Amino acid sequence: MLLRLLAILLPLVSFANYTFLGQVTRWQTTDRGAVVLCDGGELHVQFQTAEILRVTLVRPNDPEPLLYDALAANFLTSTDSQSWDTEVSESQDRFSMRSSAIAWTIDRANSRMTIWDSDGAVILRDDSTMAYGWDGNEVRTWKQLAQGEKFFGLGLKGGGLDKRGRELQMWNSDIPAYQDNTDPLYQSVPFYIGVRDGIAYGVYFNNSYRTKFNFGAGQQRYSSFSAEDGALDYFFIYGPTIRDVVRRFSDLTGRIELPPLWALGYQQCRWSYYPESEVRRIAQTFREKDIPCDVIYLDIHYMDGYRVFTWDSTRFPQPKKMIDDLAKTGFKLVPIIDPGVKADWEYKIAREGLADNHFVRFPDGTVHVGEVWPGPSYFPDFSRPKTRTWWGRHIAELRKLGLRGFWNDMNEPACWGQAFPLETVFDDSGRSSSHKKMHNLYALHMAQATREELVKAYPNERPFILTRAGFAGMQKYSAAWTGDNVASEDHLELGIRMMLGMGLSGQPFVGMDIGGFIGTPSPELFARWIQVGAVSPFCRTHTHYGSPDQEPWSFGENIEDINRKFIKLRYELLPYLYTLFYQSSVSGEPIWRPMFYEVQDDPMCYDWGYQQQFMLGSNVLVAPVTREKQYTRKVYLPAGRWVDWNTDRVYEGRQEVIVDAHLDWLPMFLREGSIVIRRDAQDFADQRAVQQLIVDVYGSTGKTDSLLQSTQTLIEDDGKSFDFKNGKFRETLYEYLAQEKSHRISRRVATNGYTLPDRSLTFVFHGVAAAPDVLRLNDAALSLNDSRISFDPDRRRLEIHLTSEFSFQSFEFFE
Ligand code: GLC
Repeated sequence: MLLRLLAILLPLVSFANYTFLGQVTRWQTTDRGAVVLCDGGELHVQFQTAEILRVTLVRPNDPEPLLYDALAANFLTSTDSQSWDTEVSESQDRFSMRSSAIAWTIDRANSRMTIWDSDGAVILRDDSTMAYGWDGNEVRTWKQLAQGEKFFGLGLKGGGLDKRGRELQMWNSDIPAYQDNTDPLYQSVPFYIGVRDGIAYGVYFNNSYRTKFNFGAGQQRYSSFSAEDGALDYFFIYGPTIRDVVRRFSDLTGRIELPPLWALGYQQCRWSYYPESEVRRIAQTFREKDIPCDVIYLDIHYMDGYRVFTWDSTRFPQPKKMIDDLAKTGFKLVPIIDPGVKADWEYKIAREGLADNHFVRFPDGTVHVGEVWPGPSYFPDFSRPKTRTWWGRHIAELRKLGLRGFWNDMNEPACWGQAFPLETVFDDSGRSSSHKKMHNLYALHMAQATREELVKAYPNERPFILTRAGFAGMQKYSAAWTGDNVASEDHLELGIRMMLGMGLSGQPFVGMDIGGFIGTPSPELFARWIQVGAVSPFCRTHTHYGSPDQEPWSFGENIEDINRKFIKLRYELLPYLYTLFYQSSVSGEPIWRPMFYEVQDDPMCYDWGYQQQFMLGSNVLVAPVTREKQYTRKVYLPAGRWVDWNTDRVYEGRQEVIVDAHLDWLPMFLREGSIVIRRDAQDFADQRAVQQLIVDVYGSTGKTDSLLQSTQTLIEDDGKSFDFKNGKFRETLYEYLAQEKSHRISRRVATNGYTLPDRSLTFVFHGVAAAPDVLRLNDAALSLNDSRISFDPDRRRLEIHLTSEFSFQSFEFFE
């Protein structure tokens, strides 16, 4: 109204503001959707599945093609073939369509869309006067902000996990030593999860331009998302649980591929280990000190003048020999790969790139030259399929030399001055698009190039790629780390929250530079960081050029012992971790989960004070110490009963407890009934088959009046090939049942597609108060005096040691 008045009063002053879709004039149903024609344009609404709705604004003469780069290749086609129905109803004021899970309506008067669940609760509703609008190229939609509505996700973001009250944007940015509130950062994942009246939904905004998300920042009226250009095209994803949303988002944008087992091992990095003798010294020290390690990284100094795909021949005169030698003791080398190609006519890669038109250009055809580590550099246009092949082939050449993984850095793309020219032109698979659209996709296409060509060259080897920048869907190609963090307590905490946010945003394979990249951690802080790293999906220590040593042994003997203990713990937990990765590759579920992911209805699980606690899978709650000189830890335990990993003490849930947290303790809690499967530690992850399987059972907590039942899966295969996709893996189920006074654990092989050598099997039952009366092994009576049985009344542990896992069927005891 005011604007209209102003427009009349000031007819000569023109100022931009939003144009809205306006009134609905007509609707036409399509297959499982509708085209809604409005005064200002069209809204296309389409059920992709019964729970996923795609909404696309089409403006008059809108030339902008939709984005497919982030979507899982088969999503749109596979969802077409599902059999389910929609139902349409129309009234004077409103059009509605429902699936079995949700309904959407649009009001004729104002094109306001509402999405309802099947109980009639509103899940997401447009603002009543501002539903869909645009201002020049900018497109935007506004949703009513509900009381108490919470917002999670958006990939790599600082701050608290709940983004309510903030405006955040997507523009991949290289910000060393970023702070808690720095935004944007390295990754762009335009996907969020809303929780409204306890019901979770997701929104994936399928737009790679600079986008903004406002969750009630500066106002209390709406949540809103906008893009500076491109299509207003989004997917609404119904829950009702956060878990449902995350899983469905992974249907939409893809899931991780199961990584090679070694990539879950401990990894050591610094900027930079060189020359060759230094790399060898580091490797040898790990073995001498009996600290497991799988990977050593080569940062930028391995190259000749930072020229990608070259070696500095003085520092690394015989790379192949070095790589082969290190492989003998289980080390894999992973080099950094930066996209910038030194603008040097003498350099083969630059010449090839210029000759075959692989580099990003200005609209007038001149090649763009920006500055990064090598000095003036060209930037490959990874959105061009031929360039991806060219680049990927060079990567595959490095693989041929024996390098095992590839670390993509500076791929925002970063450049000195932090302003990659917006007018540069990208191929975009023949569409020819500007940097404005392609910036946030740069790393995605670079990782795609790397993975696809590696798989072409090594069809039965799972690649390992690590990235700094990314976009939605990056998980299909690469693991990620949180960039250039700082060696501080605050950053350890921030990193945990960022990793949790990434897991909610479809990227479970994440980690942070252990110990902090910039600055030097105190010995205590480093030990605490290693403890967090030991249970991180991706576990790598890294530090800045010129900083003091940051290896597990660099902080004195006491700290070295602690670090060894926790790195070994990681290797012991590999069966559990690997199984979680397998499950994530199938379901999209995060490895690390905020507590509210598992317990959505407990307000304490969202509490700011407990956002540094997390779940490792569904049953292990980790409450790491993140501050120095802190030897106790206040922990919130959600509903249920929990067993303290360090003391076996049992706690009732729904309360805050204070537990001991000595410097060499990582506070962890096991949900009553949970089973954790460990193995003998090794020097490196693929050193040998399991020799000893240790099954911890946290069920016997003296409360046997109710039934307790749980199952833990163990996935095993060769750890490196794709054979598991053809059923060549072994899936063993350990099932625990406690009832009255009886406890029974049994084993069942659910998939027997992979042959393994037999190994010993140890069960550790925690919390067994008294010596059991009756014991049965494979249904035959067993005496408590049997040499295979031990009972420790002080630690309340009952153990049974068996020489063969394969002949084990069940074990039972009665209290
Ligand atoms: C960037 C990376 C960092 C790397 C450095 C040198 O800062 O984030 O991990 O060590 O470049 O390559």
